[in-house]
Amino acid sequence: MTRDDMKRAAAAAAIEYVQPAMTIGVGTGSTADWFVTLLSELPAARRPAAAVASSFATAAALRAGGIRVVDPADALYPLPLYVDGADEVDPELRLIKGGGGAHTREKAVATASELFVCIVDETKLVERLGRRPVPLEVVPWAAAFVAERVAALGGRSAARPGFLTDNDNAVLDVTGLELSDPEGLELELDAIPGVVECGIFARRRADVVLAGTASGVRRLSGRRTP
Ligand code: 5RP
Repeated sequence: MTRDDMKRAAAAAAIEYVQPAMTIGVGTGSTADWFVTLLSELPAARRPAAAVASSFATAAALRAGGIRVVDPADALYPLPLYVDGADEVDPELRLIKGGGGAHTREKAVATASELFVCIVDETKLVERLGRRPVPLEVVPWAAAFVAERVAALGGRSAARPGFLTDNDNAVLDVTGLELSDPEGLELELDAIPGVVECGIFARRRADVVLAGTASGVRRLSGRRTP
């Protein structure tokens, strides 16, 4: 079984959470793309009423699949369901996200949703967050200042070359941070002026993680984020 097969299996398991009358939130990335593909293959009577996309790319994929897309500014919150991938998942279902640079809208839509179902392949499961860099969406002109503040926390920032987010901001990928207190670090990073959003999802962690493995889909569930 390939990693892509595991992503597809996780996405297929998430389809079970979709009810026809729902307006659902949909994330970004290759695993979320599988979810969009499988949504668009559902018979019309099983499809969600509409979707709020976490990125322009996902909105385009949803439309191409015949799913009605609602602008996030026009949606009625809370959404009953948000489905998205992640770069890392720890045993408490805290996440690192933002590999695709869409984490600002992802965090907002996830936070505005009652149930966050995270779909990953098993390589994303870690004992402790921090194997991958923490992405920071930053206002472009503030990047150097933010990098200095991050350095004071022990982090090394690398600008993602040639990349702008859907909000026309830059992304710094930060390594070397101490992640024993993900909630505290999330607050600390988000408090740096010029940071739009960091990719640590500890305050709004996943409610359910569906992890595709070589032997089937593992379902992990934790406490519901209020
Ligand atoms: C995008 C994300 C993605 O969910 C994350 O990078 C995982 O991507 P993939 O499913 O392609 O491995 O946070 O901002």
